[in-house]
Amino acid sequence: MALPELLNLVYHETEPYPRKIPLQDVYTHIKFPVSSRDRPFVYLNMVQTLDGQTVLQGTAYTIGTDVDHYLLRQLRVHADAVLCGAGTLRKDDVIITTHPPLQERRRQRGISPNPLAVVVTATCRFDRAVFKKKFFTRQDFEKIIVTTRRAKPRDIDKVKRAGVQVQAVRADRNGDVHVPSLMRWLVARGIRTLLCEGGPTLNVALARRGAIDELFLTTALRLGGDPREPRIFTEPVTNRPLDLVSEFRFEDDGRVRELYFRFRFPESDKSRPSS
Ligand SMILES: NC(=O)c1ccc[n+]([C@@H]2O[C@H](COP(=O)([O-])OP(=O)(O)OC[C@H]3O[C@@H](n4cnc5c(N)ncnc54)[C@H](OP(=O)(O)O)[C@@H]3O)[C@@H](O)[C@H]2O)c1
Repeated sequence: MALPELLNLVYHETEPYPRKIPLQDVYTHIKFPVSSRDRPFVYLNMVQTLDGQTVLQGTAYTIGTDVDHYLLRQLRVHADAVLCGAGTLRKDDVIITTHPPLQERRRQRGISPNPLAVVVTATCRFDRAVFKKKFFTRQDFEKIIVTTRRAKPRDIDKVKRAGVQVQAVRADRNGDVHVPSLMRWLVARGIRTLLCEGGPTLNVALARRGAIDELFLTTALRLGGDPREPRIFTEPVTNRPLDLVSEFRFEDDGRVRELYFRFRFPESDKSRPSS
């Protein structure tokens, strides 16, 4: 599909609308607030069908159009690191790169061309097929797996032998990665802006700790119809409404093809817990 030159800005909380904006400028000039000492600024990016499915035909990639895929890479340019759950690595893959001109812009800012890829797992257990995925085989982005001290040394060694660093942080009561400790470790590593790319289980863990500041959500005008497939959150995370920051539309021959929302998470849900 040829990419459209323009997207329609149909709402923005502070900028004039409606107006058309070159695709290459959408989400390009965002300035996120400064992070705290306890955690980076965290923005989540997800794609869903009109009926809320985040997986279609076994993957997330088939849901959105090429415009969604373009914006996914565009959003990575602001991130020091991109965080994903191990389920996404197992069922899909985790390949964290951005567009060559945006890589150049990152280089000019003195940072690596692609963000650091961080995968969280309590078990640190991956089968042979996962070790063949691009997350393990590609060398054009830096990567690390974060687990807990409860993970088996044998499983940690397998990951290290595959050439990926492993960091163990504190476990929470359920044996999962303790989210505030993960956040403090990221800050100590110099990560100020963190893009979370899912999946749904990790999203719940972050939201329940008040560790999501913004949500970027693509809604494709397609129906999945499978109630077994996960929504962007698999469990309740807040009762409060989100604040809409902006909405763009991709229109083709006068027909709306896809919607792109940016939301702020409710202020009171954005705690910065330290324990
Ligand atoms: N539509 C979208 O935008 C989108 C985005 C991403 C993924 N997806 C889809 O989502 C599906 C996967 O769903 P999912 O819910 O299984 O994905 P997930 O959140 O990526 O993975 C869940 C796994 O991540 C690890 N994890 C999550 N939170 C953790 C924590 N606090 N501490 C330690 N480990 C933690 C655990 O791994 P261990 O079991 O190893 O401990 C857990 O089983 C895939 O099919 C993928 O395509 C869709």
